[in-house]
Amino acid sequence: MNMADQAEKLRELVGDVPARQPSDVAEAPAERPRGRQPDGRPATRIIAVSSGKGGVGKTNIAINLALAYAQTGKKVIVMDADLGLANVNVVLGVIPRYNLYHLIRKQKTLSEILVDTAYGIQIIAGASGFSKIANLNEEERRDFISELAALSNADILIIDCAAGVSNNVISFIAAADDAIIVTTPEPTAITDAYGIIKIIATEIENLDLGLKLVVNRVKSVVEGKKVAERVINIAGQFLNLKVDYLGFVYDDPVVHTSVVRQKPFLVLEPKSRAAQCIRHLVGRLENYDYRDGKGIPTFLKKLFGG
Ligand SMILES: Nc1ncnc2c1ncn2[C@@H]1O[C@H](COP(=O)(O)OP(=O)(O)OP(=O)(O)O)[C@@H](O)[C@H]1O
Ligand SMILES: [Mg+2]
Repeated sequence: MNMADQAEKLRELVGDVPARQPSDVAEAPAERPRGRQPDGRPATRIIAVSSGKGGVGKTNIAINLALAYAQTGKKVIVMDADLGLANVNVVLGVIPRYNLYHLIRKQKTLSEILVDTAYGIQIIAGASGFSKIANLNEEERRDFISELAALSNADILIIDCAAGVSNNVISFIAAADDAIIVTTPEPTAITDAYGIIKIIATEIENLDLGLKLVVNRVKSVVEGKKVAERVINIAGQFLNLKVDYLGFVYDDPVVHTSVVRQKPFLVLEPKSRAAQCIRHLVGRLENYDYRDGKGIPTFLKKLFGG
């Protein structure tokens, strides 16, 4: 544990965890060395976006984060892991013909189910077959995993999870490098955010994860900070779990407009307040909160076991 981590731990113990703001990027510590793929490229970083309560903005944050990352020159894939209510494609205005189910059934290859978008990112549509993984025999499972290994081409894999604490969601979170928990300032969303953090703390063994909170739809910087402090202090006190405040996104009518127009707000209104917030979040993920990517092989191993 380095000095900064120790100081943070002490502040946590006395319940005085500072809610960092996006402007803290300038104080970023030196970047840690990256995990490497066999060919020397940095290992893929896997970011799961989740929430306790539904409708708090996960999909919009996942997609626009992906675009902001892509604009920094990274190759980004978004996986829609919401089984029942897949909507990554809807927000992007694309109609995918195939999804992970076709890959599991060996009807399509990974490159065939990856959907290109007009915005430089690729998506994998609704994993409606994910729950069937448990029923695959050893050979099918091996083939499936070896197909997914090609995801290593991506620098960043962003997983848009379903709301709530189903086993699927917890499996994705447990296998990721970072879990972004999205909440809004509404008391119900805050309570449910704490709920999912509690499940993460109690149900995931060998937790090796950057747990991060994003407060969406805030009216002011102070509001975001207050909400984050509440969640972070309670998680520290009752679960002994470190949650970082990644930042906030302003409540901004451009988000609604962009959903209606099926065009991400980062593209529709790149100068909007919401878009600026998203770029801050990427800056913090990359500079302040940098974690080594686990890489796709480790991710798959954790996700499917074995
Ligand atoms: N920052 C924001 N400002 C204004 N409105 C927002 C913002 N974020 C989200 N919304 C509104 O909330 C709606 C739901 O957002 P989104 O679909 O991203 O939520 P979700 O958490 O993915 O929902 P689900 O749990 O159903 O998957 C958006 O269509 C938009 O109208
Ligand atoms: Mg969603």
